[in-house]
Amino acid sequence: MSDTGHFRENLQNSNDGNLLDNSNEDTTQSIQSNSDSTQVVVSLGSTGDSAVGEGHDLVRDAEPRATQECASAKPSFRTCLPYKETKGKYTIYDFRVLRTLGTGFFGRVHLVKSNHNGRYYAMKVFRKRNIVKAKQVEHTNDERRILASLQHPFITRMWGTFQDSKSIFMVMDYIEGGELFSLLRKSRTFPNQVAKFYAAEVLLALEYLHSKNVIYRDLKPENILLARSGHIKLTDFGFAKEVETTTYTLCGTPDYIAPEVIAVQAYNKSVDWWSFGILIYEMLVGTTPFYDSSPLKIYEKITNGMFSIPEHIQPEAKSILKGLIKKDVTYRLGNLQNGIDDIKQHPWFEEVVWGNLINGKIETPYEPNIPNGVGDSSQFEIYPEENYDYGNYNDPDEFGLYFPDF
Ligand SMILES: Nc1ncnc2c1ncn2[C@@H]1O[C@H](COP(=O)(O)OP(=O)(O)O)[C@@H](O)[C@H]1O
Ligand SMILES: [Mg+2]
Repeated sequence: MSDTGHFRENLQNSNDGNLLDNSNEDTTQSIQSNSDSTQVVVSLGSTGDSAVGEGHDLVRDAEPRATQECASAKPSFRTCLPYKETKGKYTIYDFRVLRTLGTGFFGRVHLVKSNHNGRYYAMKVFRKRNIVKAKQVEHTNDERRILASLQHPFITRMWGTFQDSKSIFMVMDYIEGGELFSLLRKSRTFPNQVAKFYAAEVLLALEYLHSKNVIYRDLKPENILLARSGHIKLTDFGFAKEVETTTYTLCGTPDYIAPEVIAVQAYNKSVDWWSFGILIYEMLVGTTPFYDSSPLKIYEKITNGMFSIPEHIQPEAKSILKGLIKKDVTYRLGNLQNGIDDIKQHPWFEEVVWGNLINGKIETPYEPNIPNGVGDSSQFEIYPEENYDYGNYNDPDEFGLYFPDF
């Protein structure tokens, strides 16, 4: 993306929804943020049409998408990733729990403030009992181990872990801009250039993970956060797995699961390329290609592999979607002779200067609205809070033995 200025050309505040900027000769796109809402604004300079957060039937409601609980078919093998010792570094008493940022099956993610340095962090809490009951011990230990070993500009950094009698805790950088999911729901769809920007950053994060033999396995807009700068941060390594060749576990989020995973066949990194295709589709179209209200129907559709792309999608975008969302893995983009280079060099990404992107030299299409400065959490949904029993070290700890590294 050598010329990214046009992402922001139309940034302005307006109350009347007329955000057309006809000063641009070519088709321009931008995302506009106003005080109480965030919208993607598509200004078609040549025709004067504008779509400001216009709804259409394809958009799902903002219900969280459930993840498929993992059913491990094969035992995993030992790790080669470096082990980072953080044990014993923190306790819950080092932090003040401020609010909930997100919830999941195993616990919640809180915004916390360090009592020592005054900084804000995100703290992911898992109930040990829930993890053991759901047979997710290995995945949770993998999440900690993998996240601790990663360092990349587009991946959330983890600083440490600890546990009490009932819960385990992971302390990460707090990513203030919220989920790409929220931005996408408010915007309905992203303009081609905006979708391309986010896709390109996700691609670099996946490239890094794959270079470390980590399959991510849970790509979706809910797990892509936006930093204050507008750059992405991949989070949630709950299904990430270190594999050298293939694995079998059925996990992911129904809309995003590759057909070979559903078929419980051996699969490899290319499941992430399938999901990457689904992500691009969802950003451009506003819904996923195999969407259905019933997960079983989704699986049926994915297995069948037929999907349609709306007419208005650009030909290069159509081409990359068809290449990535390919049922036969032997023909799937990213899994061919040139690996990821086939994706990076695809015409849809033609103007992307990859070296500049990784160095943060490309201007982001949108900067999240963070009115209250450091520690602001207005980009996150409100969740009912409970009385948290964190910090109990006296009760019997039935399950601590399963989490020796925390
Ligand atoms: N580092 C973080 N900074 C800010 N919010 C976060 C962070 N990590 C997670 N969240 C929020 O919490 C939600 C759930 O966290 P996630 O790790 O995805 O858990 P789950 O495995 O339950 O999906 C995320 O979708 C996001 O909204
Ligand atoms: Mg998640």
